[in-house]
Amino acid sequence: FYPVPEPYVWEESFATGYKNLDDEHVILFDAVREVEANKNDQAIYQHMIDVYNEHFRNEEAMFSRIMDGAHDIADHRNRHLGIMNTIEGAQVPIGQDLLDFVKNWLAQHIKNTDFDYKGKMPTHAGEHVVTDEHILEVEVAVREREAL
Ligand code: FEO
Repeated sequence: FYPVPEPYVWEESFATGYKNLDDEHVILFDAVREVEANKNDQAIYQHMIDVYNEHFRNEEAMFSRIMDGAHDIADHRNRHLGIMNTIEGAQVPIGQDLLDFVKNWLAQHIKNTDFDYKGKMPTHAGEHVVTDEHILEVEVAVREREAL
């Protein structure tokens, strides 16, 4: 089991290397923290549900393109369904038990399950897998072009 950050803020150890997904993970941490600070606000809770749903949709669209069985797509989708079933439908006041569950779930899920797709997903260009080396190459190329 991985440590749950306190305060509940995304940190570098959760980085997957896919910027859009990392940006969304930051939002998931933020949304949970906002609920914790506003346990009686149904709209803030609904916002948390919405950003979780949106993230899972986007992430599933990406990892479902891993074609060689290198990532367990069905298992990953089921884990998303499981947490949505747990959090959907809760009414204010939101209990600390539920929040602690969500906080722990996300911290474990990113490192145990999301990390498994690291380096395996095509970019939106669809041609190649993004590796750290590739990102570095692109950054160097961009910097060289800007220097011209
Ligand atoms: Fe980033 Fe599988 O949630």
